[in-house]
Amino acid sequence: MGKDGVGSSDNNVIAELIGASKKFKLGGKEIVALHQTDLKIYKGELLLIVGPSGSGKTTLLSLIGCVLYPTEGCVCLQGINTKDLSDKELARLRRKEIGFVFQQFNLIAPLNSEENIRVPLSLNKLSRDKVKEKVERAFKLVGLEERRKSLPKQLSGGEQQRIAIARALVIDPPIILCDEPTASLDVDSIDVVLGELRHLANSGKAVAVVTHDTRLEKYADRIIFLQNGKIQPKRE
Ligand SMILES: Nc1ncnc2c1ncn2[C@@H]1O[C@H](COP(=O)(O)OP(=O)(O)O)[C@@H](O)[C@H]1O
Ligand SMILES: [Mg+2]
Repeated sequence: MGKDGVGSSDNNVIAELIGASKKFKLGGKEIVALHQTDLKIYKGELLLIVGPSGSGKTTLLSLIGCVLYPTEGCVCLQGINTKDLSDKELARLRRKEIGFVFQQFNLIAPLNSEENIRVPLSLNKLSRDKVKEKVERAFKLVGLEERRKSLPKQLSGGEQQRIAIARALVIDPPIILCDEPTASLDVDSIDVVLGELRHLANSGKAVAVVTHDTRLEKYADRIIFLQNGKIQPKRE
């Protein structure tokens, strides 16, 4: 148990769901997007969450990333029960502790790579030198320094996704959450992008990747399968 009596006291556990569920009300009907779930995500692992469309993958990732709040149960990040945080503290946590990567990259079209990577830092009060140093570090991690001034449309899908990864990394978060990061990529780019994510996990980050693509299984340290909002003991 953690210091507040909830969650693991194991320092290697970066994120934990404890009986966390998510239900939506839709036209008087209740949809259970995620049934009550227990899950621990560890420092230094690449966790793959595999499931068909509609199985609750995005919901699960959104709970871990504190973008959605659980209907039941709770979410702990680095031993802190997020239920105990004020809106301001939660906003700070999302801004500083969690990196998100999406299928559609979500780069801002008129901004070049460098400017896109800088976006998450704009909410934190940092000196110009510090910003520069952090952006350089993020570029190095994905090996795309030479594309600093390129606009998203001048980059391949794989390169755009690597810039999106650099943008997620620029805040140096302990956990990176990726929602179908390879769904818009060709096979070669999938290899490069998963190679980057693998490297990040090896360097101590917790990396969670949701996908319906079973080809990604070879990159994972651990795989869980989701079906109808439930983690399955093994693949059906
Ligand atoms: N905001 C929402 N309102 C109502 N239903 C939702 C909402 N978000 C997701 N759902 C439903 O919850 C289920 C799981 O969705 P989701 O987590 O997006 O699945 P996946 O990412 O695996 O495709 C689906 O049936 C979906 O329609
Ligand atoms: Mg989804």
